[in-house]
Amino acid sequence: MSLLSLTPEQREIQRTAREFAERELAPHVAQWDRDAHFEPTIVARLAELGFLGMLLPEAHDGLALETSTYLVALEEIAVVDASTAVLMSVHNSLPTQMLLRYGSDAQRARFLAPMARGELLGAFALSEPEAGSDAASLRCQAERDGDDWILSGTKAWVSHGTHAGVILAMARTDHTDARRGAKGISTFIVTPDLPGFSVGKKEDKMGLRASPTVQLTFDQMRVPGDRLVGEEGKGFTYALASLDHGRLGIAAQAIGIARAAYEAAARYATERKQFGKAIGDFQAIQFKLADMATRITAARTLLHAAAAAKDRGERVTRYASMAKLFATETAMWVTTNAVQVFGGYGYVTDYPVERFFRDAKVTEIYEGTSEIQRIVIGRDVLADPSP
Ligand code: CAA
Repeated sequence: MSLLSLTPEQREIQRTAREFAERELAPHVAQWDRDAHFEPTIVARLAELGFLGMLLPEAHDGLALETSTYLVALEEIAVVDASTAVLMSVHNSLPTQMLLRYGSDAQRARFLAPMARGELLGAFALSEPEAGSDAASLRCQAERDGDDWILSGTKAWVSHGTHAGVILAMARTDHTDARRGAKGISTFIVTPDLPGFSVGKKEDKMGLRASPTVQLTFDQMRVPGDRLVGEEGKGFTYALASLDHGRLGIAAQAIGIARAAYEAAARYATERKQFGKAIGDFQAIQFKLADMATRITAARTLLHAAAAAKDRGERVTRYASMAKLFATETAMWVTTNAVQVFGGYGYVTDYPVERFFRDAKVTEIYEGTSEIQRIVIGRDVLADPSP
């Protein structure tokens, strides 16, 4: 049951995503999580379903769907496997959207169709070991050398950077501007065949363990001049504008995780008996389930309103941050309370709620922490207080 009124096309995509997730992901997720195993064959399967070009025009082999339809699919995948969901979200929201919006005709022609077909998995490299929330303090350098650029530095927290075929990387091109900050950052299309590119440390994470998160090192990496995206010095604004889109995807992922935990808790409440009756007969448990369902419904409603505004061509920075903030805090709250409903059984690996709890946490951290979302919303409401 959902308050959203879905079109027939959205129902069809939802069904496809659900069937794929239940048939091809569900049997393996617990093992992949235990082994921190990324299953590379998933990329080709997602591509076959069109799920790696959901927002791209048909001319680039995409499905040309509305943002809300993409988010419906993403939620279904996240219900079963949050690691696959983050791959879908990053690929569809960040590198493909950046290229579509800011890339040259030649860059779009070369990269977008192979990305939609799953031949090139897209990644996004903004953060660095010393530049997280303060992304504009990044230090990766790009120096001109004839027609080429030489990139040097280390990018951090790159989702599926191990398997990426194309990485949209932000580097500092203006070295004369001593002002620490956003001006003078440019975006480059990096491919792993470039000399000087290497994949570094793989993080050993609490959750999303089937999604490999790595550092990337650029050691005097020679990048052809035609890999600069858009205008020199505009890369930081491109990254932030793309994150408006990315944050909608992470909100959908968080709603999926929350839904998985809520559905598991609701089922368990009817099965588990204590004091001679099902624990769901106790108001303490009913109230938790009621609050879970209410928060998930509110998060989804906000998210899809933001997506509709995005598809109308409006700037949704404030609403993308609100949706991400509310959905991810909902996911953490719901998964925490789902563990509580399960009691001791929620704390062990016999049931999946402990995984939902671990997976939920990072949604409050990546693509901007909850604190950063509040900064973005706060600045925006000071400029225009209308809610
Ligand atoms: N769209 C377009 N332009 C934007 C924008 C947006 N949403 N937000 C800001 N800008 C522009 C500003 O107008 C400004 O341009 P001018 O200088 O021309 O005026 C420029 O970008 C810089 O903006 P700020 O002055 O606001 O920059 P700031 O240094 O104060 O930082 C911030 C703002 C919101 C704190 C930002 O640094 C931020 O969002 N930090 C969080 C970083 C983040 O989300 N990282 C995600 C990593 S990727 C990831 O996690 C992916 C994954 O693998 C899951």
